[in-house]
Amino acid sequence: MYRQFLIAMAIIVGLAACTGRSKNYRIGVSQCSDDIWRDKQNAELRMAAYFHDNVELCFAAAYDSDARQVQQIDSLLAKGIDLLIVAPNQMATISPAIDRAYDQGIPVIVFERKTNSHKYTAFLGADNYEMGRVMGDYVATRLKGRGRVLEIMGLKGSSPAIERHNGFTDALNRYPGVSVVATLQGDWTEPTAFDIVKSWLSSHRDIDVDLVFGMNDRSAMGARKAYMEQRPEGHLPLFCGIDGLPGEGGGIQLVRDSLLDASYIYPTYGDVLLQVAVDILEGRPYEKDTSLMSAIVTSSNANVLLMESEEVMRQTAYLEQLHQMATGYLQQLSAQRTVTLLAIGVIVLLLLLVVALWLFFRQRARLHQERTQMEREQLDFYTEAAHELRTPLTLIEGPLDLLAATPTISEAPESAAELFAIVRRNTTHLSGLINKILDMQAGKRSVSGVADNSGNGTAAWCEPIAMQPSASQTLGSGQQEEMPTLLIVDDNADVRAYLRSILQADYQVYEAEDGQRGLAVAREQVPDLIVSDVMMPVMNGLEFCQQVKSDFVTSHIPVILLTARALSSHQIEGYESGADAYITKPFEKELLQARITNLLHSRRVLKDLWGSKDEEKEAASEETAVPTMEAVADAQPSSPFVMRFKAVVEARLSDSNLSVEDLGADMGLSRVQLYRKVKALTGSTPVDLIRKARLAKARELLQSTDLTVSEVAYKVGFTTPSYFTKCFKDEYGRVPGDVREVKE
Ligand code: FRU
Repeated sequence: MYRQFLIAMAIIVGLAACTGRSKNYRIGVSQCSDDIWRDKQNAELRMAAYFHDNVELCFAAAYDSDARQVQQIDSLLAKGIDLLIVAPNQMATISPAIDRAYDQGIPVIVFERKTNSHKYTAFLGADNYEMGRVMGDYVATRLKGRGRVLEIMGLKGSSPAIERHNGFTDALNRYPGVSVVATLQGDWTEPTAFDIVKSWLSSHRDIDVDLVFGMNDRSAMGARKAYMEQRPEGHLPLFCGIDGLPGEGGGIQLVRDSLLDASYIYPTYGDVLLQVAVDILEGRPYEKDTSLMSAIVTSSNANVLLMESEEVMRQTAYLEQLHQMATGYLQQLSAQRTVTLLAIGVIVLLLLLVVALWLFFRQRARLHQERTQMEREQLDFYTEAAHELRTPLTLIEGPLDLLAATPTISEAPESAAELFAIVRRNTTHLSGLINKILDMQAGKRSVSGVADNSGNGTAAWCEPIAMQPSASQTLGSGQQEEMPTLLIVDDNADVRAYLRSILQADYQVYEAEDGQRGLAVAREQVPDLIVSDVMMPVMNGLEFCQQVKSDFVTSHIPVILLTARALSSHQIEGYESGADAYITKPFEKELLQARITNLLHSRRVLKDLWGSKDEEKEAASEETAVPTMEAVADAQPSSPFVMRFKAVVEARLSDSNLSVEDLGADMGLSRVQLYRKVKALTGSTPVDLIRKARLAKARELLQSTDLTVSEVAYKVGFTTPSYFTKCFKDEYGRVPGDVREVKE
């Protein structure tokens, strides 16, 4: 279960991992400074990165320090960046660090300020020389070709400072009336410009300057502030700068507000920068050197530019807002995905739980079934064992009782030797059986094995025998017909011998060793009663009983099941098969004898088939015992057997040669079958019944016709009228002539 849980969790985590991107880019951005121009560019880079969700930006600002920038580049490399964007503070000092990155195979984009090495992948920047040149032309024009100019340089050694200076100088050279009174070394910052201009003014009180050119707007403003402080009442020169940033405090606004006379838009283009970076990383074509567009800002276009830039800023803010919303939605989506994954996980776990429970209950049911099966087999085993023990016990106890009832050995009955032999055989068998059971238990043999062996054991000592006539069958035929007949069905020869010994004095006994043979004997001999074992080979006692009860010839015969199967469930099975009595082994011989006597006497006999309706005789035949169901059914005047018998007899009444064989042939029965069945059901022999039928018909003819007595006698099959008269008188107590008189 625990293992299955771990597997399920691994699958869930695996699924979650698969949904992530396979490749992420980390881009290092090394800025030389931290100011509003850099801020604007960084914001553009960030904004552009929103469109590439596999890009991660790592910013570093060196605050105009070479050493710090070198250190920052190295630590970005150590962090494992995929590309470096760098604006070098100064060319010479930063180039080695940039070369190191390039040599490591990291693509390098140099922007805005140049390196003095060729080791870079791409360069983006505006043309600073051109900017300086355009500004020079503007200044000369603004001064109408005559005037004094103060120049404030950018950071020494940085490429824009050099290039802007060159462009500015080259342009002014064309205007001899315009002179540069001083070129002061700044560093792009306002405070430095303020300081250097302030100190220059204090040492050059006599020089009036017409225009101050700061190489960026911050330097120009620093100079302006120095002028305001140093010469508050004096003539204020014009101030020009470069950068032309939009927004509050930016160069465009300064021009519009006339704080600066002109500026020059120094493009930041962060979005273009990032696109080139992604193109390089993803292997798309790109420009090695990109020159960015720029334009001069003067009082004539400052308003428009400001409006436009404000619009751009507004759109940018809107975009940013959209991005925030998208980010929110994405977070929501990812939260939902997490919840979905968790839900799937829970469902998988629940399914596993259901499967585990199902397996558990199935296993439990199987165990229960096995236990029930084992218990049933054990019960069968003990039943078998009990059966095996009860039979020899019966065969020891019964014969011993019989012998004990004999006063002295000399008075012992003829069968005493046989009884002793039975006792001896069964004592040996009993001890052998007990040893066998103990051996089985000790050897832990399977229950079914025990059952099989016990079955074999049974076969071993219940050897099949051919049906032999019992002692009583050797009696003379006259005596035989007097005695009721019994059929004993048992696979154990000793049981049969013992039963025969206790029953043969009162009954004519037939034997059979299994149900199938028993059925054949029952059909042939139609005994008055059957005593049968239950557990027998070939056909067991229950099926045998069912067959007896469903056969036209034998259905009336009472059946006693004599068995070791003592459980009430077994008895129910026995009665359901149609048995009339169920006696368990070991049994009292008196009980068996009493049950046989009782069942034989309880047969309801159909007395008045053609009888004299003698009430006294009928009353005397009533028994207190309950007759068997089949006997009751068969002994009804409406039963198929009785109706057929009556019809066959009545059809042949006038035939004086009619015999029992003839009647049997008409009914599809043998003489013995007909004799026994008719005797059992009516208490009379077929011959008696034929005579009764003839006499009944004669009486009817006498009462309803004018035929003479002799004519009637011949008509009902008598060959002599005198014998007819004798029989008639015997049956009805009157001579035939008296019957006629009654009628008249
Ligand atoms: C920003 C800045 C700008 C200037 C540029 C020169 O850091 O100082 O003001 O135009 O750099 O590289």
